[in-house]
Amino acid sequence: MTITRIERVVYAVDDIPRCTRFFEDFGLQGLRTGVGQEIRLVPMDEPGLPAPLEDGPTLREVVWGVDSPEALDELRAELERDREVRVDEDGSLHTLDETGFGLGFAVQQVTEPVVEYPGTNGFGTKARLNTPLDPPGRVSPLRICHVALNIPKQGRERAVGFYLDRLGFKATDVVEPMGVFMRAPGDADQHTMLLCHRPDRAGVNHTAYEVASFDDVVNGANFMIENGWREARKLGRHTIGSNVFRFVHAPCGGRVEYAADMDRVDDTWETRVHAETPPHHLWTLQSNRDGEN
Ligand SMILES: [Fe+2]
Repeated sequence: MTITRIERVVYAVDDIPRCTRFFEDFGLQGLRTGVGQEIRLVPMDEPGLPAPLEDGPTLREVVWGVDSPEALDELRAELERDREVRVDEDGSLHTLDETGFGLGFAVQQVTEPVVEYPGTNGFGTKARLNTPLDPPGRVSPLRICHVALNIPKQGRERAVGFYLDRLGFKATDVVEPMGVFMRAPGDADQHTMLLCHRPDRAGVNHTAYEVASFDDVVNGANFMIENGWREARKLGRHTIGSNVFRFVHAPCGGRVEYAADMDRVDDTWETRVHAETPPHHLWTLQSNRDGEN
């Protein structure tokens, strides 16, 4: 069985029009990413959802995409060994993980995004020969590239072990005081999920969306700020994953991240174990010209 990607995130929210506008401003059309993943917004009292793990609007279910119906059958058999699994009319599976987050699986429905970024020039490379850049325009997030969930410290080994031992996720960076970065077995991103125990409570931390370029990370968040949304973390580049990032507070719960240039890894990557938490970022944008151009 191969879990390839995040297929859908389900947020239960108190103001669906406002949250819809948030994701439209973020750059999503029809609440879908370029590769066809869905952001589903439902009322807080939507029947059939798992109980919330924190107050207020929050992420209630992550549905993972798999590569075949056979993979879905295998997952169902594995999960039914120790938990109840609901099968919806569309064949998708729904259950809970060890923390109580809604956990679903569905056969992936992949669409091909249009990526118009012409590439970057550098010493010895001319990817953008005779091609000046156009004004950036609106950003179109290509895909949900990872989800970060907060989990309680107590029971964290069990919570992480469920994904690693039962679902085949690969631990890429184990940060002992903080959490475990892992990738879905069919994905090459350095992490597709982070289970973070540092806050010692369950809830959504953030969801991250890959955009085509560094420029889009900057421009996407600029547009959000211009439209009244609040920045949560200024431009920087993470230490773990190496991705460029900007974060925005989300009315659906937690934060959302624009991400670009994340590390890609394969099965030759050896899990790194950090006894101490590495610095959060390689750099962040510094300025002493506030209010000036
Ligand atoms: Fe992230």
